[in-house]
Amino acid sequence: MVEIIQCEDGTQTVYSPIFQETYHSIKGAIQESHHVFIRAGLNHLIEKGYQSIKILEFGFGTGLNALLVLDLAQDLPDISIEYVGIEKYPLDNSKISNLAYHEKVNVNVSDWLKLHSGNWHIGNFKGKVLHMDFNDFALQTKFDMVFHDAFSPSIQNEYWRAPFLQKVYESMNKGGVLVTYCAQGEFRRELKRIGFTTESLPGPLGKREMTRATKL
Ligand SMILES: C[S@@+](CC[C@H](N)C(=O)[O-])C[C@H]1O[C@@H](n2cnc3c(N)ncnc32)[C@H](O)[C@@H]1O
Repeated sequence: MVEIIQCEDGTQTVYSPIFQETYHSIKGAIQESHHVFIRAGLNHLIEKGYQSIKILEFGFGTGLNALLVLDLAQDLPDISIEYVGIEKYPLDNSKISNLAYHEKVNVNVSDWLKLHSGNWHIGNFKGKVLHMDFNDFALQTKFDMVFHDAFSPSIQNEYWRAPFLQKVYESMNKGGVLVTYCAQGEFRRELKRIGFTTESLPGPLGKREMTRATKL
């Protein structure tokens, strides 16, 4: 059973006793997600001129990343975004209600709940959550952006190495970008061996670096 815990900035996150790790930095859930996945990720593609963007997330969890995408998409009506989140251990509704991340951004409660209904179509933002193991994903669609948000390599090493990363690479379009909070050297070397170019960017509060990788 997961627990809700308080971050230092007043937001909350989830702690998994099974994996013994929090879903976000305890410095602040929203600041971390926004920094890594929106500022260094989605905004980067939009600045490159993308107008139609397909995003694949490993570890939908609380839905915070999808919520931040919705918050941005509402302000950019000319851009269309499709989202697929993969999550093996969905949170129960009482946890989702307690987290209430929508109150911290410009999204209403019914849209926040739609993101947790499994399938949504909210204006220019549509998506779904697939309740399956990361290893079982086999999607026909190719993606422009990957939010890699598994637990850290010390806990889930296999998702930060080939053959998993090779499969992720093959599921991306040319020019597609993967972003993650993880800055581990061996993970970056593996990305390069597979064919990504990697960038080390300043990390969110409390972390020196994060990683952005592009499929050439
Ligand atoms: C670091 S948390 C990600 C948090 C999430 N992005 C959020 O904003 O709440 C990792 C997530 O991956 C999920 N997960 C871990 N192992 C998995 C697996 N093998 N297959 C699918 N989901 C998995 C966990 O349940 C958890 O929700």
